[in-house]
Amino acid sequence: MKPLLIGHRGASGYADENTIKAFSMALSMGCDGIELDVHADADGNVWVIHDETLERTTTLDGYVARTTADELRKARTLPGNEPLPTLQQVLDQFGNKCLINIEVKAIEAALPAARLVNAFCETTGGSPKYFIFSSFDDNILNSLRNFRPELQLGVLEEGDWRAALHRSLKYRAYSVHLHHTLLNELSVNAICSHELRIFAWTVNSTQELERMNRLGVHAIITDYPQQ
Ligand code: G3P
Ligand code: CA
Repeated sequence: MKPLLIGHRGASGYADENTIKAFSMALSMGCDGIELDVHADADGNVWVIHDETLERTTTLDGYVARTTADELRKARTLPGNEPLPTLQQVLDQFGNKCLINIEVKAIEAALPAARLVNAFCETTGGSPKYFIFSSFDDNILNSLRNFRPELQLGVLEEGDWRAALHRSLKYRAYSVHLHHTLLNELSVNAICSHELRIFAWTVNSTQELERMNRLGVHAIITDYPQQ
């Protein structure tokens, strides 16, 4: 079966990462879904941004967690001058239309993000199956699993696929999100024998894309969906 194609931080090879523009481009380039990162601001609102600080990707600086929503609304991304999206804005625009992989970067964002998705599904009658919450952090995975047994969790790992498999079973994950270099016949067969899905990141070369296709992973996360 053809793997799902997921835009990493949107089509971040072509537009500022984690922006509405990057997500729209990913879908117009044929992606089945988008991957994005979330942090919470000083008031607990959930924003779509990769780093815990603002300076690499926006016109502001300082920690997201110490910045108010009023300030964050003034931020523009670099270099494309796009607004910083909230998770709610992404849900309103892309919810129920594609798979949304929400990578939770900070524990403070975990339950607020899950509550927003839950409320969105309840008010729109949408399916929670459109959402995967992923994290490298066990405290975050644990807190999400305790929040709702039916949440689709993705366990992120960049060093040790066996550890990822162990953690995935522990948190009753839906998927294992591995750096593509960890994937080979041995790791893929071991993970698939537990009926877990494999999401490979971040696959940006044609050669690796072909290797992932041959291995039969379930989803490919890429910065360059058009490639
Ligand atoms: O979800 C895979 C990938 O996004 C994890 O690494 O640093 O790009 O968030 P990072
Ligand atoms: Ca990410």
